[in-house]
Amino acid sequence: MNRTCLAVILAAGDSTRMKSSMSKVLHPIAGLPMIAHVMRAVRAAGMRDAVLVVGRDAETVTKAGSIPDMTVSAVLQTERRGTGHAVLMAREAIAKGYDDLLVTYGDVPHVRPETFLEARAKLAEGADLVVIGFHAANPFGYGRLLVENGALIAIREEKDATDEERKVTWCNSGLMVINGARALGWLEKIGNTNAKGEYYLTDIVEIARADGGSVVAIDAPEAELAGCNTRVELALLERMWQDRRRDDIMLSGVTMIAPETVFLSYDTRIEPDVLIEPNVVFGPGVTVEAGAVIHAFSHLEGAHVAKGATVGPFARLRPGANLGEGAKVGNFCEVKKAEIGAGAKVNHLSYIGDAFVGAGSNIGAGTITCNYDGVNKHETRIGDNAFIGSNSALVAPVTIGSGAYIASGSVITDDVPDDALAFGRARQEVKPERARLVRERALALKAAKKQARSPDAKADR
Ligand code: UD1
Ligand code: CA
Repeated sequence: MNRTCLAVILAAGDSTRMKSSMSKVLHPIAGLPMIAHVMRAVRAAGMRDAVLVVGRDAETVTKAGSIPDMTVSAVLQTERRGTGHAVLMAREAIAKGYDDLLVTYGDVPHVRPETFLEARAKLAEGADLVVIGFHAANPFGYGRLLVENGALIAIREEKDATDEERKVTWCNSGLMVINGARALGWLEKIGNTNAKGEYYLTDIVEIARADGGSVVAIDAPEAELAGCNTRVELALLERMWQDRRRDDIMLSGVTMIAPETVFLSYDTRIEPDVLIEPNVVFGPGVTVEAGAVIHAFSHLEGAHVAKGATVGPFARLRPGANLGEGAKVGNFCEVKKAEIGAGAKVNHLSYIGDAFVGAGSNIGAGTITCNYDGVNKHETRIGDNAFIGSNSALVAPVTIGSGAYIASGSVITDDVPDDALAFGRARQEVKPERARLVRERALALKAAKKQARSPDAKADR
């Protein structure tokens, strides 16, 4: 579309019903603040200029809404005097003369770019004002779209509506696009003589019609226009997002045994032919390559899993975990900021942090990289095809050469060269018969004590 468009995003609400110490638009859905979801939809619909109308948490909201490849500015609405008043906060930007003006809300994160484009296409066809409506299962609280002879003639707010008007179920989403050349004139005509004493953006319908403007309404699914006022609605929006994304990922060739138990982030990337077992959580920044298997109850964040690698069950990959092709990280292992080379295995009960594990190495059960001295973090480097015996502590900084062998139960504080064998534990001693002697002495002692406490012994005293 070669028309210019300014997007104005209303996000100055108090978020009272969220009962939160931060603005609702900062609450994340799939790990990304709600406001950023809106901005991504706006950008995906081809818009490059946006004004955020902010109130509480102005700075944080502006930062969260500033996404790449868009010019985003913010204006502060110090007093909440209604949606019409809020849009006018962007007066200066609107006056620059865009072809189209889009108004959307910061708390409607599921709106699709296609809906914005459909509305703008109507402007391109000659409409001056396009309202995005929806058919509400329960219209209570929404502005109603009033239609006469097939034309939208007004939007009536719940509080100002007659009983008859309240029966209407076609509702205003609040999202609309306006002819950029005429928008400012109409917005400035909005007054505040209504039940709430607020400047209602919705009055623009009647104002535009009175001025000879062509006004139309289009429809979008209610789910797409769902807003967020409470934590219950926040959870619902999250569920809707997860459902949609899981479907997309499965349709792209990923198997999920129990998709309803798998949680994805906004940026999770999973290639085809990956198998994801039940109860897996993907935090932000995870990529999984083809053929990998993520077993049940694993938690991944900021991690990369290469082709054919396997994770879990019950594994935790933290930021900077990078698994090479065919690598294995098994049950109750935690990997942080560490490369696990191709085909290397960390199968049981280990912590590998700030480390490099070479290809083909085997890290025995219970191995710990002691990376932290209480002040600084240090690195552990393990070469290719090394073997770390079970229950070893590798005290970083330390380097284990390729092909080296660490005896079980070692505490390794010095570097181990390639192909060397290192023991870092006390030498075992075996004392023949000693166990029996110890046991007999203990039994004799116990018997003597019991004798001393007996009634006969007391009578003797
Ligand atoms: C508004 C619409 C209503 C529609 C509904 C959909 C008006 C008068 N009514 O009602 O027709 O059905 O949305 O949810 O437009 N905001 C500001 N500053 C303000 C006022 C609002 O930034 O001074 C922002 C809010 O943060 C919110 C959005 O605008 O994101 C809508 O405001 P809200 O008070 O929720 O409007 P409703 O009364 O729900
Ligand atoms: Ca609302």
